[in-house]
Amino acid sequence: MKHDFDHTPNRRNPNHKNKWTWYPNDVLPMWVADMDFPSPKPILSALRRAIDNGVLGYELPSKALYETVSARMDRLYGWKVKPEAVVAVTGIVSGFSVAARTFCTPKKGVLIQTPVYNEFHAVKNNLGIPQIDAPFVKSVDGNILHYEIDWDLFARQTKKAGMFLLCNPHNPLGILFSRKDLLRMAEICIKNDVLIVSDEIHSELLLDDNQFTPMAKLSPEIAKHTVTLIAPSKTFNVPGLFCGFAIIPNKELREQYAKTVEHLRLHVSSMGLFAAHTAFGGQCDGWLRDLRRYLTANRDFLVDYVTEYMPDVRTTVPAATYLGWLDFTSAGIKGSPFEFFMKEAKVALSDGKIFGREGEDHVRINFGTTRKLLEQGLERMRKALKRIQ
Ligand SMILES: Cc1ncc(COP(=O)(O)O)c(C=O)c1O
Repeated sequence: MKHDFDHTPNRRNPNHKNKWTWYPNDVLPMWVADMDFPSPKPILSALRRAIDNGVLGYELPSKALYETVSARMDRLYGWKVKPEAVVAVTGIVSGFSVAARTFCTPKKGVLIQTPVYNEFHAVKNNLGIPQIDAPFVKSVDGNILHYEIDWDLFARQTKKAGMFLLCNPHNPLGILFSRKDLLRMAEICIKNDVLIVSDEIHSELLLDDNQFTPMAKLSPEIAKHTVTLIAPSKTFNVPGLFCGFAIIPNKELREQYAKTVEHLRLHVSSMGLFAAHTAFGGQCDGWLRDLRRYLTANRDFLVDYVTEYMPDVRTTVPAATYLGWLDFTSAGIKGSPFEFFMKEAKVALSDGKIFGREGEDHVRINFGTTRKLLEQGLERMRKALKRIQ
């Protein structure tokens, strides 16, 4: 492997507030979804060039940037997106909040599939828009967790929604939805006149040799009803630069959406725009290939470790993302596993509860780190569990 993912810079600057400084220094952070790896060199060089120029003035998304986004969709998926169908946004949470503000009403809420990324749950608090849950059906095979769509429930809940906020690939479950499932979800949404907002932020973080298909690529009819949200942030580890894109082929929807972006004055920072341009230009794709291989091996390490050394714990086998999902319902922990591991193992995970009621007794683990730190975190967890058995 040409790129080195075994060494990471120190982020423990006491004047900074981040994943590594949020908790005391003896806690190993395996929570918030950024990786411990430096961004690829071409992105860092582009940012350095901007700094060396010396003037950090306002920058707007250029025609060349939109063409680059459009060309990437064609290159990756054969999806023909017109550059004018792309709207820059200050990240994906802003992107779906804009959609909710534009297309939902107090009577037509936002449909989500729980457990799901905590910010999906914040739409209701932020905007007073009702949240409609369609929880997955969970099953267990040995110690491996599976989640499937409850189609009757999904169809029933869709009737109350103005927008379906899809998470594909799914955080925290690591699901990569099949074409068949995507088509079926889309068909139900279109029948009920529900807009699809497809959060595809993790779409390039594929494990094994998995392939991704954007929801809107499936048919022109689906594209007409879909807002697709993408960003370089997770893939190339630049989430702090806050730059994302909404792809909206339907002109009428796009104009409504863009008007809200404009009213809210959501201006992307110059560094975010420069990073996105380089990231989507293809210069970092070799780095990304190596990253995927490293993350796939980390995923295998996690699953094997849990299976061998924590037999009462259940795990997903994520098909994408760098996020694992562990179920401690039968592991003998009294109270919350998040608090247990924080106190007894000095490992900071994400509390499953923040992803929805179904996340109780679960945690999300971020394996976007070195193999060594992953092993260290798992060792600490195993020892803590052993002490209560
Ligand atoms: C599914 C999903 N959407 C959006 C985000 C965050 O997007 P942003 O930081 O661009 O607002 C995350 C971060 O973890 C995520 O997992």
